[in-house]
Amino acid sequence: LQNGLARTPPMGWNSWNFFACNINETVIKETADALISTGLANLGYTYVNIDDCWSKVTRDAKAGSKIANSLLCKTKMMLLQGQMVPDPKTFKSGIKALADYVHSKGLKLGIYSDAGKFTCQVRPGSIFHEKEDAMSFASWDVDYLKYDNCFNLGIEPKKRYPPMRDALNATGRSIFYSICEWGVDDPALWAGKVGNSWRTTEDINDTWVSMTNIADLNDKWAAYAGPGGWNDPDMLEVGNGGMTYKEYRSHFSIWALIKAPLLIGCDIRNMTAETKEILSNQEVIAVNQDPLGVQGRKVHSNGTDGCQQVWAGPLSGNSLSVVLWNRCMQAATITAEWNVIGLEAGTSVSVRDLWQHEVVLNNAVASFSAQLDAHDCRMYVFTPQAALMGNVM
Ligand code: GLA
Repeated sequence: LQNGLARTPPMGWNSWNFFACNINETVIKETADALISTGLANLGYTYVNIDDCWSKVTRDAKAGSKIANSLLCKTKMMLLQGQMVPDPKTFKSGIKALADYVHSKGLKLGIYSDAGKFTCQVRPGSIFHEKEDAMSFASWDVDYLKYDNCFNLGIEPKKRYPPMRDALNATGRSIFYSICEWGVDDPALWAGKVGNSWRTTEDINDTWVSMTNIADLNDKWAAYAGPGGWNDPDMLEVGNGGMTYKEYRSHFSIWALIKAPLLIGCDIRNMTAETKEILSNQEVIAVNQDPLGVQGRKVHSNGTDGCQQVWAGPLSGNSLSVVLWNRCMQAATITAEWNVIGLEAGTSVSVRDLWQHEVVLNNAVASFSAQLDAHDCRMYVFTPQAALMGNVM
């Protein structure tokens, strides 16, 4: 969506993967504080996104009170009429106060609703209430909306998602619009004009199998991503405990290369040093945030079930980002041949390892190989010598 936002993939945090419904304003504020104190905010993680369960289970009855006075209609109107209100038990100061707090730290606040009758956790959804809910979000100074797909009345996503785009636009406030329709009806084909990102798959969970499957499913839509609108293979699980260090490093490297939103999904108030190291890798983040905005792809696979893989994509300045990814159960040597990663035969490149933080070879020609442990990856920037010379001059 060309609304001036999302020139590069969004970065920040979202409450769902770790906290699910166990959220409250203290958790959100402490997370904002932790983004600052850990240095993550400085690296670009600026969105603090509240997921499902922030709102009361019913809308505020007041706006619908005239009709709802009739006893017959009361229950129905309680569900359908009025404004969305924050749950008074968990968000008693309200969303505006929270937005003020988050903004005072130089961060941005995201909120969540649903293009259906209810959210997935059965809080009010926004279908047929797009205008008043967009007005509420804007009046609270919200910066980002994740818009889910539960209880959707069987209406196709193409019809349900544009009204909220238009309602957000009409508020005059810049609000990132994240479409979360789980890949239903191939959103890449239509959502580029509707949202700033669109989910390409069902929910991620904190396992190697889920993460690798999602990477593959999302790959199909690479051609449709770019500044303004990104494929969304769902939020990061790094730091939630279900994968090893090497697996999480692979998860983060691939999400960066494929220009996925980098939305942290762990409890950043209590991160291990390893989790922090992965999420804080500036060179990997720079690939994700590269201004060219071209999604990297799986360009080669061999071995059992294609488990020895090369993923690559172009960067600005004629460089390339390359991930060698060993998805096999045992160690393997993986080779990136120039023709598969899109380099001219004979091109000499410098190879910078983004996890070792050093140039490991100055003049690689024709191919580059590395030996990798099971489920590990290497991530590189390949810079052709000609481009290097150009930079110097
Ligand atoms: C859906 C979404 C998730 C999360 C939950 C919340 O499953 O896909 O990302 O927002 O709903 O209920």
